[in-house]
Amino acid sequence: MRITGRTRLAGIMGWPVAHSRSPTLHNFWLDENGIDGVYVPLAVRPDRLEEALRALPALGFRGCNLTIPHKPAALSVVDRVDPLARRIGALNTVVVMPDDSLEGSNTDVFGFRENLRDHVPDWDAAVGPAVVLGAGGAARAVVAALIADGVGEIRLSNRTITRSEQVAADLESPGCRLTVVAWDERAAALQDTGLLVNTTSLGMTGEPELEIDLARLPPTAIVVDIVYVPLETALLAAARRRGHRTVDGLGMLLHQGRPGFEAWYGAPARVTRELRTAVLTTLAKNR
Ligand code: ATR
Repeated sequence: MRITGRTRLAGIMGWPVAHSRSPTLHNFWLDENGIDGVYVPLAVRPDRLEEALRALPALGFRGCNLTIPHKPAALSVVDRVDPLARRIGALNTVVVMPDDSLEGSNTDVFGFRENLRDHVPDWDAAVGPAVVLGAGGAARAVVAALIADGVGEIRLSNRTITRSEQVAADLESPGCRLTVVAWDERAAALQDTGLLVNTTSLGMTGEPELEIDLARLPPTAIVVDIVYVPLETALLAAARRRGHRTVDGLGMLLHQGRPGFEAWYGAPARVTRELRTAVLTTLAKNR
């Protein structure tokens, strides 16, 4: 890294922010492209988010990413929000425009779709209904991605059923039936499906395992876990043993960073084996 005085700045705001892998990701791309730039973690307290975002143009930042807990709150701070992010109710990318206004978007949808395509190039939304476990911000992004891909039916299941009902109400869309399934019925909901996605934190290192009987999942169904620590969760291992194609969550993290990087630094952000290795190495070090 070289700091010249013309260094292009971006970063990630979170509270806490130390856990974020985004600095590794973006600084890898900066190095790869030989760009005089830097991407820094910004520990921003929730009550100072507006002040911090408004300071971006004044400080010469090109923009930033947002992580917990700022994703929903940022919606009401920026000057323009893309309609998809508005529907999802969360922003993760802010770009400072030439007139110093702030434009917000949600690139998790893009990240999920690109990751799925990388692992399953022949992915076809017509293979059948999808089951999405969870009802947080990640679930909303996944549901929006599946709707955009043309999935005709999505079954939503979450421990707290009212949150699934809210997701269904907020993301309702012509051409896609969103049905809510009780958490205890999640295994039965796998009948005749083409895709199962875990967006809960279950299965993540330090969290309980996700318990789900895969017996009813058709052999052709694809299983996606957005958890990436560990890379192969118990869910993915069980699915792989049954012969399902599986997709881990690391690629979603990598791809969601691309639109921001390309807007701030004007250079391509490629998801390569070297990038995966670099991010996995940081994950292993910080465990
Ligand atoms: P994010 O916005 O990152 O998706 P979140 O809103 O914290 O994160 O969502 C975490 C998800 O994991 C939720 O769907 C949560 O279920 P609740 O809505 O009932 O809280 C789910 N989750 C976490 N721990 C769980 C557990 N022990 N059993 C079942 N679901 C769990």
